[in-house]
Amino acid sequence: MAILPIRTYPDPILAQKSAPVTEFDDSVSKIVEDMKQTMQNAPGIGLAAVQVGIAKRILIFDAGQAAQREDEGEGEGEHNQDQEQEKPSNIVVCINPVITSAQGSVVSENEGCLSVPELRANVTRSACVRAKAFDENGAPFDLDLEGMAAIVFQHELDHLEGVLFLERISRLKRDLYKRRVRKWQKDV
Ligand code: NI
Repeated sequence: MAILPIRTYPDPILAQKSAPVTEFDDSVSKIVEDMKQTMQNAPGIGLAAVQVGIAKRILIFDAGQAAQREDEGEGEGEHNQDQEQEKPSNIVVCINPVITSAQGSVVSENEGCLSVPELRANVTRSACVRAKAFDENGAPFDLDLEGMAAIVFQHELDHLEGVLFLERISRLKRDLYKRRVRKWQKDV
């Protein structure tokens, strides 16, 4: 297992559409293991393979941590004093995931992305999604998601299409962010 470097905007690979996984072999298991370690180290609650430079349709998310954040009312960094109810990690591996139905609409507040550092913004997402995917052994399964898990899943699925959440926020916010990134690049 290895912690892989996370690609950040404007790395062109992040705009690339990821290719389906066609063989569930050891190389897929290795990518999944590295992704888990990378996500937990970041730390993050979701990660797509393309974020570590592998443009394959693999995403992972931590359903336990997503539920935990929901309990905390999303206030990342402002953790509750009493955390006896800490939910364990429960990483879900989704290969070649497809949404089969989506319902409702919800504003995901202060959404962020490991590939878009130092930006938080509200994004409109579907409230509930049903999806199907394969696990790392090639076994198909269904997902029925709501709340934070549904939001994270949609965010990661966007990555597989080469879409960053930057593209789902207002043009003003996006342009300001792009300007900030250009300035960082000049300052380096
Ligand atoms: Ni992201």
